[in-house]
Amino acid sequence: MVNFFSLAHVVTLIAIAAASPLVRRQSATSPSGFNSNTNASPALKAALAGAASYNDRQAILFTEPPNATNITFTFINNTVTDGTGGTIALSTVNNFPALIGTEVAMAIGFVNPCGLNVPHSHPRANEFLTVIQGELVAGLVLELNNGGSGHVVGQPMPANGPIPQVNVTLSNYKGMLFPQGETHFQFNPTCEPALFAAAFDSSDPGRTQIARNFFSNMPDEMLIATVGSDQEVLDAKRIARFRDNIPTSFAVVMEECAVRCGLPH
Ligand SMILES: *[C@@H]1O[C@H](CO)[C@@H](O)[C@H](O)[C@H]1NC(C)=O
Ligand SMILES: *[C@@H]1O[C@H](CO)[C@@H](O)[C@H](O)[C@H]1NC(C)=O
Ligand SMILES: *[C@@H]1O[C@H](CO)[C@@H](O)[C@H](O)[C@H]1NC(C)=O
Ligand SMILES: *[C@@H]1O[C@H](CO)[C@@H](O)[C@H](O)[C@H]1NC(C)=O
Repeated sequence: MVNFFSLAHVVTLIAIAAASPLVRRQSATSPSGFNSNTNASPALKAALAGAASYNDRQAILFTEPPNATNITFTFINNTVTDGTGGTIALSTVNNFPALIGTEVAMAIGFVNPCGLNVPHSHPRANEFLTVIQGELVAGLVLELNNGGSGHVVGQPMPANGPIPQVNVTLSNYKGMLFPQGETHFQFNPTCEPALFAAAFDSSDPGRTQIARNFFSNMPDEMLIATVGSDQEVLDAKRIARFRDNIPTSFAVVMEECAVRCGLPH
C-alpha cells in the first residue's frame, strides 16, 4: 500500500504540481466552488419535480428579472485530491436542479498520472466520454448472452472463465461509448494529467463499483464460492486485508506506471 503521507510522495506531488498547468489550476480552488450550481436548494428541486409543463418549469427557473444562474453549472473548481488518482466533477439532479425533468448529466474527469478510474458501471445511463487533454486507456468488458443460465438440461455445460475486454487509447478529442449498465474503466498510462468530458443520457446515471459492491458485505464463504475458488486462494484473512481499502472511485497508481513516472507506490 502507498503511504500517502510519506515525504517522498509529497515531494513528488509538489514536483508534478509545478510541472503541470492543469494541476496548478486545480489546486487554486475554493471549496465553495465544488460541483455546484449556486442556486441549488431543496425547494428548487421540489418545485421542478412538480412542474407539469415547460411553462411551469420556466416560471420556476427564471423569475423577474430572469438570468442564466439557474441553468448554469460550475465544473472547473474541482480539485484532484492528492494521492487519489483523480476526481470527477459531476452534474446530476443531485446538485444541478435544472436537470430534473431532462435526460442528461455531465462529468468532467481529472485523472492524475497513473490514475485509474476503477471498473464501474452506470445502471441508468449510457456514457459518451471524450478525452480533452492528455491520454487515457478506456476499456469495456463485453456482455455475454450465454452462460448466465447455469447448466440447462440437454445443453452442454457453460464455459467458465474470463469475459473479453476491449480497450483503446483515447487522446485529442477521441471519444468512446460505454453502454448503460456495462463494466468499464479509464486509466491514465502517462506521467501527465488527463482531462475528460462525459455525457450521460440520464439526469441520474448512478455509479456501481464492481469491486466495492462485490466485496463489501457478503459472507466470506459466499465470496469464495462466487469466485470459484477455495480457501487456499482466497480466505477470510485475505478478504479482510483489502475489504476496507477498496477505493471509492479512483485508485492511486498501477505499479509499472508508477515506476516509470517516478511516483511512490
Ligand atoms: C474558482 O476558484 C477560484 C479560486 O477561489 C476563483 O478565483 C474562481 O473565480 C473560481 N472559478 C469559478 C468558475 O467559480
Ligand atoms: C432560480 O430559482 C429560484 C427558485 O424558483 C428563484 O427563487 C430564483 O429567483 C431563480 N433565479 C433566477 C435568476 O431566476
Ligand atoms: C440573477 O438573479 C438573481 C435573483 O434575482 C440575483 O441574485 C443574481 O445576482 C443574478 N445574477 C446575475 C449574474 O445577474
Ligand atoms: C488492453 O487490451 C490488451 C489486449 O487485449 C491487453 O493486453 C491490455 O492489458 C489491455 N489494457 C488494459 C489497460 O486493460
